[in-house]
Amino acid sequence: MKLFYEEMGSGFPIILIHGFPFDHTIFMETAGKLKNSARVILPDLRGFGKSSAGYAPVTLHDMAADLHELMDELGLQKAILGGHSMGGYLSVDFCRSYPERVAGLALIASHAAADTEEQRQARLKNIEKIRNGQAREFLMEGMAPKLTKYPELAKSLNEMMVKTPDGTLIGCLQSMAERTDVMTWLKESGIPAAMICGEDDMIMPLARAEEMAKKMGADPLVRVPAAGHMLMLENPEMTAKGLLEFLRRVEENK
Ligand code: MLT
Repeated sequence: MKLFYEEMGSGFPIILIHGFPFDHTIFMETAGKLKNSARVILPDLRGFGKSSAGYAPVTLHDMAADLHELMDELGLQKAILGGHSMGGYLSVDFCRSYPERVAGLALIASHAAADTEEQRQARLKNIEKIRNGQAREFLMEGMAPKLTKYPELAKSLNEMMVKTPDGTLIGCLQSMAERTDVMTWLKESGIPAAMICGEDDMIMPLARAEEMAKKMGADPLVRVPAAGHMLMLENPEMTAKGLLEFLRRVEENK
């Protein structure tokens, strides 16, 4: 499926992939800080922002295939993928399907583990809620309180989240619940990896992130202060710094 995207800067390509349920605009400020060093591509995943939702229930695998199509369209042989949260989960799927197209994987408030049983059950309950017409409750009570402690930012994120079609929410939740643990695979793949995390992330606590970074060979992870799950908006300076350091590391080893 053809995706809407924005593009800025020139240099080695970095695709910044938003999480659930947001759109490419969350990365605009960070991208502005990268554009003198990289060609930054900011897609809206299918069903989000300005990209159409398509027909079938969306899966992480479909979204990875859309990105592959976008890379072909842009003539990119290889790129760094910078995936935020769900954007990271589908970047991991991309790495498994098209490893030859990935120069590096930056997981931003994201990881390559499966859901815990508790997380999986919560996702299934939330799917039921949405099917019962309670998408707004799920977003405002289940998601919003864990995203950020900055009220102004929370307001704009809420406006973004409620625009997501129910079918897209359901497809993403189902597909996120079905993920498997690919930390060992990633470590053995030799794909350079980094983890960049907000110190106050309520969705992925730092201690758990540090443990996972070791397992997948992205050690030590980059800790972004004064930021939680939405670190690219809460502290774009330090998020961009982490990405630039990773870009340099990838370029040096090319
Ligand atoms: C996201 O920000 O993409 C979601 O919080 C991911 C998740 O629910 O695991």
